[in-house]
Amino acid sequence: MSHSGAIRTARAGVNIALVKYWGKASALDNLPAVGSLSLTLDGLGTTTTVEFDDALSTDAFTLDGVAQPLDTRVPALLDEVRVLAGIRARAAVRSINSVPTAAGLASSASGFAALGLAAFAAAGLEVSGPPSAALVDCVRRGSGSAPRSLLGGFVRLDRDSGGVRAVSTGSAPWSVCIIVARVAFGPKDVSSRDGMAHSRDTSPFYAAWVDTHAADLDAAEAAIAARDLSALGEVMEFSTMKMHACMLASRPALRYWAPGTLAALDAVHALRRAGVSAWATMDAGPHVKVLCATEDAARVRAALEPACLGTLTCGVGAAAQLIEERVP
Ligand code: DP6
Repeated sequence: MSHSGAIRTARAGVNIALVKYWGKASALDNLPAVGSLSLTLDGLGTTTTVEFDDALSTDAFTLDGVAQPLDTRVPALLDEVRVLAGIRARAAVRSINSVPTAAGLASSASGFAALGLAAFAAAGLEVSGPPSAALVDCVRRGSGSAPRSLLGGFVRLDRDSGGVRAVSTGSAPWSVCIIVARVAFGPKDVSSRDGMAHSRDTSPFYAAWVDTHAADLDAAEAAIAARDLSALGEVMEFSTMKMHACMLASRPALRYWAPGTLAALDAVHALRRAGVSAWATMDAGPHVKVLCATEDAARVRAALEPACLGTLTCGVGAAAQLIEERVP
């Protein structure tokens, strides 16, 4: 079937895991070993235009206007979409990240969520209503954290029989924010994907990480339902430190922290001693992300800024959506 000229654009927000995903049940299928729970952020994200064109002989991908080597994950997602839609046309994919390049926060999650939604829509697949199981599965194969960026606010992702299921949790608005404290420059040494495989293969703590994970998801979901920021922050820090303990016990150790990571953590602990409900998390990188009430944001920023290179404040973001403007 000809599918020339089918072009759609989608935007998806970055998400930060409060209960972390680390490890795969199947590397081949990129199936997570554990669920996760996240907050989608406003202000930071990816906008992607997908244009199917019969005249193209290969897929093409530009990021922030620069042609990218076609890593297998982008064409693999497009291949899945072509199979589902019964089309053969190759696609031109153009993405823009609204993440400051130096912030070290470029996100595969918002990238694959925006790519999946735009590609599904351009291929004529179903995109109305909540994300379909097919879309969730497709973006999950691109990146395990990507289904969380299809939805807004707090999102819980669980394994299910076929793959994963992502649902919004905590429907009423809650005025919280994430303040990102940037503590180092430069890209990370070890990708999440490689780091997860290394932890699974060598860390004696990996089995304990997987076995104790579900309880954290339930505790975080209950804290969100109760609008209990301290309970949510406490389980977020617990999940974060367990994940980093598992990484550190890998052989050789996987250490994503920089000196500034500890300085920012000290600032968060000092805030708590002073009575501010501020809580820290780190991913596969050195930066510290601080969860707090929006009304405390100025105070938290003031405490973090002397300890880091700069901060970014993000509120609660919306679900991924199709938009009219195209990435040129
Ligand atoms: C530490 O989703 O980037 O940020 O599935 O291999 O693409 P792949 O991994 P990715 O891993 C994210 C790991 C994390 C924790 C999290 O976001 O849950």
